[in-house]
Amino acid sequence: MQLFLDSANVDEIKESLTWGVISGVTTNPTLLSREEGSFEPLVRKICSIMAGDPVSLEVLATTAEAMVGEAERLAALAPNVVVKIPMGVEGLKAVHCLRCREHKVPCNVTLVFSVNQAILAARAGAAYISPFVGRLDDIGWDGAALVEEITTVFRRQQIDTPIIAASIRHPQHVQRIAAAGAHIATVPFSVLKQMAAHPLTSRGIELFLADWARSHGEERL
Ligand code: E4P
Repeated sequence: MQLFLDSANVDEIKESLTWGVISGVTTNPTLLSREEGSFEPLVRKICSIMAGDPVSLEVLATTAEAMVGEAERLAALAPNVVVKIPMGVEGLKAVHCLRCREHKVPCNVTLVFSVNQAILAARAGAAYISPFVGRLDDIGWDGAALVEEITTVFRRQQIDTPIIAASIRHPQHVQRIAAAGAHIATVPFSVLKQMAAHPLTSRGIELFLADWARSHGEERL
């Protein structure tokens, strides 16, 4: 399973790239609204930092025709832009149209909350589909179970559209959707840091250093 960073923050993106673990970025209007500066320079910068790896940018339009126009403008910003299109009939029409256009804008169908929505998005020609895990948990459902169901159905139906598990809130989500067979998890930087940490790892390092210091004092390797 690949990891994408769910962030529009340049410092977070640069830092996580140094870990060697992320191979894409997803943004949304909420994440972008938290950042300083205007939209275009910021997203151009993110796309250039990601050097060819996919960066999802979401349309704001709500009709298919307007979505297509916005998607084409977003895709022109950088070659690695993937356009996020919200699920729905207008979204499906837009994805179908963008897929058939000459330059074939890759679309990430976002705000997917059911297996049927995932099937429709894949059939319309999405390059990725993004089921939202945490937001389903928020209303008392089991978001990770949705990813399990979509991966099972896609495998059985031989649908090869990559699934980006989104709205990831904690490391347990990542483990469950990885076990389910999701292709990609897009994780906030806070969750990426939690994934790297374990109290026994920290304690183990402390103990090793203390034992070494007892026998060798300040001596270093
Ligand atoms: C993914 O593409 C979305 O940007 C994101 O994961 C939404 O997460 P949230 O539900 O925590 O806002």
